[in-house]
Amino acid sequence: MSGEVTLSVIKADIGGWVGHSRIHPALQERAVEVLRDAQAQGLLVDFHVTAAGDDLQLIMTHRRGDDNPDIHGLAWRAFEAATEVARELKLYGAGQDLISDAFAGNIRGMGPGVAEMTFVERASEPVIIFMADKTSAGAWNLPLYRMFADPFNTAGLVISPSMHQGFRFEVHDVKEHRRIFFDCPEEMYDLLVFIGAPARFAVKRVFSRATGEIAAVSSTERLSLIAGRYVGKDDPVMIVRAQSQFPAVGEILEPFAFPHIVEGWMRGSHHGPLMPVAAREGNPTRFDGPPRVIALGFQVAEGRLVGPVDMFDDPAFDEARRRAAQVAEYLRRHGPFEPHRLPLEEMEYTTMPDVMKRLAERWEPVA
Ligand code: 13P
Ligand code: 13P
Ligand code: MG
Ligand code: MG
Repeated sequence: MSGEVTLSVIKADIGGWVGHSRIHPALQERAVEVLRDAQAQGLLVDFHVTAAGDDLQLIMTHRRGDDNPDIHGLAWRAFEAATEVARELKLYGAGQDLISDAFAGNIRGMGPGVAEMTFVERASEPVIIFMADKTSAGAWNLPLYRMFADPFNTAGLVISPSMHQGFRFEVHDVKEHRRIFFDCPEEMYDLLVFIGAPARFAVKRVFSRATGEIAAVSSTERLSLIAGRYVGKDDPVMIVRAQSQFPAVGEILEPFAFPHIVEGWMRGSHHGPLMPVAAREGNPTRFDGPPRVIALGFQVAEGRLVGPVDMFDDPAFDEARRRAAQVAEYLRRHGPFEPHRLPLEEMEYTTMPDVMKRLAERWEPVA
């Protein structure tokens, strides 16, 4: 494993301040204490703790590879420790995403979201970590497609010899627990048939076809499918490597200049625009939204996280924010009607089944 570094981003909502709007600093401080001890013991090379809305984000580097029980256990302990603080402060939904009671070796499927990748550090290793609040796994499909398959977004696909062969997409069917790979550009149209339906199909990883190396990874855990009911939204994360055989930093950020519509927002049951914001603005309040995305950039150096740089803290994204606010206003006027409210099959994990059950006897046949 020497020479390889693993970047793990593990996140959970363990209590909101106030309601579902942001993380209380005391929770972040508690998580830092837990991770600092782990670093002192040599388990972590480096870490950065941050928040996206009401989601606590653990960004960690280490030498143990993906799906390591010690790293996942550490994240679980950090969430449990911070949940204790959330309970003392009676924060909203304390422990919300910790669906399972006891840690059993892998944090996947227990509630938190996980994006991890292991790679040999390049001579220079820029990475961007995207973190969203008030939306679901699958929200990255459109931006990932743009970054890695759309030449109108990514000039390098056309003019960089190291990217011209294109990229390979790993797509997960989150309901059937199966996966498939598509090579782009040849299989672009097949890819789009699936990832255009992000509630069911999510891009899990992207690989360079020139080198086979991992370019991007996202969290695809769907909380409602794990819990079987609505507990909160997935609020996914994603790691993208930049430059050289991968898209340039600006090509990776560019898709977010268009605030595309995602599912989430109030009670996890509405469509709304994904607004790119500086980290200090990642606290959704209007109708518990609109959905937010923040992006932190780091240079990885011998496993150290040199950063963060707050990538959406740029007035060039003001127009996207303004547009998102306008789209939010327009959608809000639909109130409880689709397409602001999610379609029926997506409401399956909300109050809808209870209402259906309660009224079951009152439905009568029409002649
Ligand atoms: P309450 O019904 O507990 O207020 O929850 C609503 C909500 O915020 C959904 O997560
Ligand atoms: P979170 O998923 O961010 O906890 O939001 C839940 C919610 O119901 C907001 O209205
Ligand atoms: Mg919450
Ligand atoms: Mg959240």
